[in-house]
Amino acid sequence: MPNVAIIGASRGIGLEFVRQYANTGWRVCATTRTPDQPGELEKLRGDIRLHHLDVLSDTHIARFADALTKVPLYVLIHNAGVLKSRGRASPEETSETMRINAEAPITTVSALIDSVAASDQKKVVVMSSIQALGRPRLSNPDLYGDFKGELNKRFRVIEPEWRARGITAIALHPGYVKTDMTGQHASLTPAESVSGIRSVLNSLTPAQSGRFLDYRGKEVSW
Ligand SMILES: NC(=O)c1ccc[n+]([C@@H]2O[C@H](COP(=O)([O-])OP(=O)(O)OC[C@H]3O[C@@H](n4cnc5c(N)ncnc54)[C@H](OP(=O)(O)O)[C@@H]3O)[C@@H](O)[C@H]2O)c1
Repeated sequence: MPNVAIIGASRGIGLEFVRQYANTGWRVCATTRTPDQPGELEKLRGDIRLHHLDVLSDTHIARFADALTKVPLYVLIHNAGVLKSRGRASPEETSETMRINAEAPITTVSALIDSVAASDQKKVVVMSSIQALGRPRLSNPDLYGDFKGELNKRFRVIEPEWRARGITAIALHPGYVKTDMTGQHASLTPAESVSGIRSVLNSLTPAQSGRFLDYRGKEVSW
């Protein structure tokens, strides 16, 4: 049975990844900050294992990587992210947003990279956004777009290391999706976005490693 890990699976796009992979026979390692209150995750059927992970915690990341040491991950998706507006965030919130959106995808994937390298498919997704385009401008950050831009920059630095281990890693824009982050005026349902992303992943080739793709497989310029 193929294994997939979804980081940030409690709501929105992450929850839909868990639903679709579990429905199609995958074993899903799903992370949540609140395993005692799994909410919608608890209602899903299939081979789903919940793990406690706040990506701000090095201890949680190490414990999760340890738990997955013997689990070859065909697909690893770092989905967790937060949206904070410029002007409304305290310095602490700004720093936390930077850590969640730009640093955690790299540190968390790096901690799990041996489990990905041990699998047959070896695919990694870091969830970015087209709002990253042309960024970062970290001197006066728009917390969301600029930190996603910083994520893209860091991804492009580390991806060759991952590729050298046979891993195919992409940055991905999921489309404009109706979730708590965006509201109901967005254009896509989580089901539409995640179906598209799963098709992209099914046909992803090693030659595409290091690219920035959207949920239809269309290349996004950096
Ligand atoms: N929706 C869109 O249109 C859109 C467009 C472009 C990119 N994206 C990206 O796609 C990803 C998913 O977005 P979404 O719309 O599904 O957002 P969402 O509904 O707000 O869900 C965000 C997820 O990230 C988790 N998370 C936040 N901080 C975390 C932390 N410190 N540790 C672990 N998990 C954490 C949340 O967990 P809790 O429930 O514990 O808060 C939740 O599961 C994000 O990276 C987002 O930036 C979304």
